[in-house]
Amino acid sequence: MSSNGSRSPDFNKLFNDSYERIMARGSDVFYQRFYDHFIAASPEVAKAFVNTDMKRQYEMLSLSLMQIMSFASDRRSNPYIEKIANIHARLNISGNLFTLWAQCLIATVREMDDHYDAHVELAWRVTIAPGLEFMRAYCELAE
Ligand code: HEM
Repeated sequence: MSSNGSRSPDFNKLFNDSYERIMARGSDVFYQRFYDHFIAASPEVAKAFVNTDMKRQYEMLSLSLMQIMSFASDRRSNPYIEKIANIHARLNISGNLFTLWAQCLIATVREMDDHYDAHVELAWRVTIAPGLEFMRAYCELAE
């Protein structure tokens, strides 16, 4: 990956622009493609979602992604993010599935953002990292 000349990449802008391009193509398509990837990636994940109303799940993920974005900028916990973390802690999700979750999200971004490049991927990865780690660590510490 090039260092982008002498300019340092603005990950906030790269992330926001990518998110807007993707949402302009249809948020439903994005969430549906994400869960297609996630469920196909592991039998354990497929089993976990066997009785799930996926239409509701797409809306839930959309809401939680907003929270993950705000957590990335202020690192403040709130009742919503704690509730989601608690639900996952009770589901006994192994830590490696959070890595898979992030990989599937990036695969979906790659597929849906026509300006995707390594800097866009980095922007997504650094933006979701704090919220993802919060969820993973919360589940691990609740064991
Ligand atoms: C940071 C990563 C994740 C986020 C933001 C997230 C987000 C959410 C949200 C918002 C819900 C809905 C909770 C509610 O009903 O109020 C949910 C449910 C669920 N999530 Fe996650 N999730 C993440 C990672 C994972 C992983 C790694 C798994 C592994 C299998 C997983 C499995 C599930 C399952 C099984 C449900 C319950 C579905 C149902 O109600 O039938 N999630 N998730």
